[in-house]
Amino acid sequence: MSKIQIFKDADVLADSAAQTFVDLAKQAIADHGYFSVALSGGSTPKKLHKCLAETYKNDVDWSKVFVFLSDERFVPPYDELSNYYMANETLLELVPIPDENIFPFVTMDFTVEEAAELYETELNRFFTGSVAFDLIMLGLGPDGHTASLFPNQPEVLNPSDSLVVAVHDSPKPPATRLTFSYKLLNQAKNVLFLAGGQNKAEVLKSILEDEADLPATKVKPSQGNLFWFLDEDAASELNKAT
Ligand code: 6PG
Repeated sequence: MSKIQIFKDADVLADSAAQTFVDLAKQAIADHGYFSVALSGGSTPKKLHKCLAETYKNDVDWSKVFVFLSDERFVPPYDELSNYYMANETLLELVPIPDENIFPFVTMDFTVEEAAELYETELNRFFTGSVAFDLIMLGLGPDGHTASLFPNQPEVLNPSDSLVVAVHDSPKPPATRLTFSYKLLNQAKNVLFLAGGQNKAEVLKSILEDEADLPATKVKPSQGNLFWFLDEDAASELNKAT
């Protein structure tokens, strides 16, 4: 199931995404005792994280939330470019989530290929059976990239059987990254794209209405739900009533 929801502005977008996060967490915990979520990087999630850490902090049983990252820059965890650093600053250190429930990528002392293998091993150890997240959060770049799946990159041109892949020469610095693969993304129970701002309007029209062959277009959970949460600016070039 794919669903597009449009919200007035960035604040309402973030609050609505936070409410959905809480609802999915409650459902997952009631269903199987825990909530597995992969957070996305970039700047858009910061408002969402703030809502979760402030408005909805007491609505989630954080002891049963297990946090991964849908992609990472290959920089030390204390580097401000790190997605883990951003998630920690804006959410994880502000809520009572046990350290052992947080799974950052290893981005030091190993090659980026080794780091991808280590994370894949971690995922297979955490999930019994197939690696199917309760929720994967994703952002969207103006070039149609998502996570660290960029146009004309090997994983986009020829999706692999891996769950996590190393990325070199990313057009969005830093050049070396790690990312969930399409295989992993498309096994998720729920995928939520969060996109706001006028600079995403053109690419959203290409993806949602013109089915352009872009990295984000290939995110189609085979069994799961696909949510597009947009603000009015980002949705401004969409024609169809949604
Ligand atoms: C990253 C992100 C990337 C991001 C988009 C949108 O590591 O940079 O994973 O995919 O989500 O580029 O970024 P903004 O939210 O800053 O627009």
